[in-house]
Amino acid sequence: MIVTIDGPAGAGKSSAARALAKRLQFAFLDTGAMYRAVALAALRRGLDWNDAAALADLAQQLNIEVRQYHTYLDGQDVSDDIRSHEVTSVTHYAANNPAVREHLVALQRQAAHQLDIVTEGRDQGTVVFPHAECKIFLVASAEERARRRVRDLEARGEKLSLEEVLADQNRRDARDAERDVGPLVAADDATIVDSDGMSHDEVVDYLEELVRARRTGNK
Ligand code: C5P
Repeated sequence: MIVTIDGPAGAGKSSAARALAKRLQFAFLDTGAMYRAVALAALRRGLDWNDAAALADLAQQLNIEVRQYHTYLDGQDVSDDIRSHEVTSVTHYAANNPAVREHLVALQRQAAHQLDIVTEGRDQGTVVFPHAECKIFLVASAEERARRRVRDLEARGEKLSLEEVLADQNRRDARDAERDVGPLVAADDATIVDSDGMSHDEVVDYLEELVRARRTGNK
């Protein structure tokens, strides 16, 4: 069974998807980590961001493995490095590159092959797994999402103001929504879940209910 969780940055997809996968004893795939890993590799090599062909070539050469909760780039665990503010702010070069997307979409399908899996991103229910049995589109208000992101960055020792994070998030949302390939949009058959005012556990309980209902064919 494939469960897709898409939605904008900071809606709590990652923590909800992880917890849901644990409860269901499903595998978990963080597809944003793949785009981040490509961006990190390009940063480290000092690639020219305007050279889309070079970025696509690089993506093809990299060995990116997202195994449950860890991300490996050419064998090195980069789970922490890919979450920095610097990487976050350049990941759109990877995400907006159609050739990079095509490559990563293929990797994502490979990773999910013959597994029960919860997969999380922007285009999972629309492009990557259009036949997924359960599709969720998780949203929250821009302010709530930015507050969460500030807390996450603080926990990493990076201090940014709410205004900075909000401005950056608005830019990311606009880029995600306007992209020609794999834009951020809810699939027609997705259930939209607004997590504003819900605790983490309440969100996970609700998602679990949705999946179990789908499994038994009630919804
Ligand atoms: O989810 P996360 O914030 O880690 O994703 C990082 C970036 O990767 C997002 O800003 C988004 O532009 C991009 N992304 C994407 N398609 C996905 C997952 C993430 O374009 N399936």
